Amino acid sequence: GKVAVLMGGRSAEREISLKSGMAVLKALVNEGVDAHAFDPAAQPITDLLAQNFDRVFIALHGRGGEDGSIQGALDALELPYTGSGVLGCALAMDKVRTKQIWQAAGLPTARSIAVDSSHIAELDCEQVLTELGGRVIVKPAQEGSSIGMAIAANAEELRKALQQAAHYDQRLLVETWLQGPEYTVALLDNRALPVIRLQTSHAFYDYDAKYQANDTQYHCPAGLSESDELAVRSLAKAAFLSVAGSGWGRVDLMADSEGRWQLLEVNTVPGMTEKSLVPMAAKAAGISFGDLTLRILEQTME
Ligand code: DAL
Ligand code: MG
Repeated sequence: GKVAVLMGGRSAEREISLKSGMAVLKALVNEGVDAHAFDPAAQPITDLLAQNFDRVFIALHGRGGEDGSIQGALDALELPYTGSGVLGCALAMDKVRTKQIWQAAGLPTARSIAVDSSHIAELDCEQVLTELGGRVIVKPAQEGSSIGMAIAANAEELRKALQQAAHYDQRLLVETWLQGPEYTVALLDNRALPVIRLQTSHAFYDYDAKYQANDTQYHCPAGLSESDELAVRSLAKAAFLSVAGSGWGRVDLMADSEGRWQLLEVNTVPGMTEKSLVPMAAKAAGISFGDLTLRILEQTME
């Protein structure tokens, strides 16, 4: 049948989505699939039916694409799609809710508090810093690619970081700062792929370190002992399943100063550019980019 590769969209991660989508489209066409680009920011989603598409590969990142809304629309149109459903996408897009679920499930995640953007002015920033260990990272609850994130180590920096993050979301997360390095685990068909360790010269793995800098290093294998590698993989899988993730995705995590693993977030539509992390982990597991896209597409046949 005819496959639509959804890409673009209206989120702050539009540019990355176009790159992911074009890489996926090229690979699928190369594998002989009748695939075509479809941008929901340019055309109403109901056009998928009018244009006789049978299946959908979702390569949209961020809100409106990775948060359950497109998934709900496709459910209503009875069009099968790749990856997680409405619930998994909605939960994973929201870092505050994700952490609440992990805490309830007894899964490790850095200490944090949630702040509503309408309460920034009266927030006792000193108190928050004391509670969270003096150095924190501020994140919009629902954003990707590190957009809107900043580190704060005093009350003035914290208020400023919250005000800036508030440009992206009404709900904000203030989390205990972890030194890193950051690790990531790709999930494919309920299996965790080899762990990747990220090494950046930046204070954290920010937008520039992700997409621009040429001094970001990726290590796969990650250099963990065999038992740590397996422990991280199974932690990532549990973290993914706990927020109703399915099909494929990516879980990011860090070790804290005492060497304990702390979960950061789940991406239900992770980056799929040729340089992205899921393709990198797949390659380490002997799965080419073409095979990876085909295996994800097969999820629409279940
Ligand atoms: N949000 C970006 C696309 C990622 O997780 O890869
Ligand atoms: Mg993300």
